[in-house]
Amino acid sequence: MPDELRPIRMEVGVHRNADGSAYVEWGENKVLAVAYGPRELHPKHKQHPLKALVQCIYNMAAFSVGDRKRPGPDRRSQEISKVCSEALTHVVFVEEFPKATIDVYVEVLQAGAGTRCVGLTAASLALADAGIPMKGLVTACAAGKVGDRVVLDLSKEEDNHGDADLPVGIVVNTGEVVLMQMDGHLTKGEFDEAMGLIDGATRKIYEMQVAALKCKYQEVGE
Ligand code: CDP
Repeated sequence: MPDELRPIRMEVGVHRNADGSAYVEWGENKVLAVAYGPRELHPKHKQHPLKALVQCIYNMAAFSVGDRKRPGPDRRSQEISKVCSEALTHVVFVEEFPKATIDVYVEVLQAGAGTRCVGLTAASLALADAGIPMKGLVTACAAGKVGDRVVLDLSKEEDNHGDADLPVGIVVNTGEVVLMQMDGHLTKGEFDEAMGLIDGATRKIYEMQVAALKCKYQEVGE
C-alpha cells in the first residue's frame, strides 16, 4: 500500500544513566536515543553566551547492517548528525540555557531504511523525557518514488529500487518543517503527493510519541 507505515513501537525511559531516553522499532529499524543536559559546555570557547548548543550525534553500529559497517564517523553520519542537530535546535527553547550543551546520542542498532527519520523521532522523545523545554516534538517520516508511484515510508527493498527519497521532519503541533532532504527527483505533483502522505503519517506517529511519553509518566505516577 503506497500510504502504509511500517509497524512502529516506541518506549521512553529505557536507559538508567541518561537524563532521558527512547527506544524505537520501526520496520526493520531498531534505534536507541539518549539525551543529556542541559550541562555546561566544554571546551568553554564553544559556549554561546545567550543560548544552548543542541548536539545530536548519529551513529550506526558496525553490526547494524548486513555487511559489517566500518565503525566510527563517516561523511554520511556527520551529515545526518548535522541535519538532526539543526532540526532539534528549532524546537528546544535554547535561550533558556546560555553557555550550555544539550546532547542526544542516536545509536542505530539495526538499520533497514529511513534511519534518519527514526533517529530524529527517537531523539525528540529522549529530549522530552529529559524534561528539556521544547515548543513541540519533532516527528519525521519519509516518502519516495518507486517506479512511477509515490510511496510512503520506503522499506529496504523499496529504497534499493527507489528513484527518490524525501525525508521530512515536522513539528506537528505548529506545522513547521524542520528537516527536509531530497535524494533523486520528484515532479511538483509527486512532491505534493509525497508531502500529503508525510503529513498524514507524521500525525499518526506524533500520537504514538505522546502515548509513549504518557505511558512512562502514568507508570511513575502510580
Ligand atoms: O537510513 P536513511 O534512509 O535515513 O539514510 P540513507 O543514507 O538513505 O540509507 C538508506 C539505508 O541504507 C539505511 O537505512 C541502511 O539500511 C542502508 N545502509 C547500509 O546498509 N549501510 C550503510 N553504510 C549505510 C546505509
